[in-house]
Amino acid sequence: MAITRAQQQLLQQSLEQLIVIPAALDDFYAALIEFAPHTATLFSTERTQHSQRLLIAFQAIIKGLEQPEKLVPLLQRLAQRHLDYGVTTADFTPFGNAWLYVLKAQLGDTWSPAHRDAWVALLRLIATVMKQQMQKQLTTDVQ
Ligand code: HEM
Repeated sequence: MAITRAQQQLLQQSLEQLIVIPAALDDFYAALIEFAPHTATLFSTERTQHSQRLLIAFQAIIKGLEQPEKLVPLLQRLAQRHLDYGVTTADFTPFGNAWLYVLKAQLGDTWSPAHRDAWVALLRLIATVMKQQMQKQLTTDVQ
């Protein structure tokens, strides 16, 4: 499903709202670890540092929706690095659910079904490209 310009704007606005809430990312990791306890052992860097990188990545991805020819290789490289971090394709569902949970909780009254649809579409797009690349990499590695 293609992400529309209106959805891109909703994504940008909601991410900007989240960025200014310092506790939001702590809540995200707490939710991720609750949904998938084994992920607690995956993170080696300071969570605050990782949070910054995650937010910057989301900003770049949302902006990159206008240039799929650049976005796809960016996500493929991100996927390759995630294999090195020990992430598996099964981790994307709890990750996406934790992200949606935190957005909804933090955006409060401004959160709407349209926000949910836009974020579900974005998370699906990212997960589809990253998971395909991870599968491809794993298949290549065993040959
Ligand atoms: C929406 C999908 C995701 C995005 C945009 C994303 C983004 C990022 C970024 C930007 C980094 C910084 C390092 C780098 O650029 O390679 C990173 C690292 C990492 N991510 Fe993700 N990620 C995603 C999904 C996941 C999932 C599903 C997991 C598993 C629970 C995960 C776990 C990690 C880990 C363990 C690191 C390394 C952190 C460390 O060094 O401590 N990520 N991620």
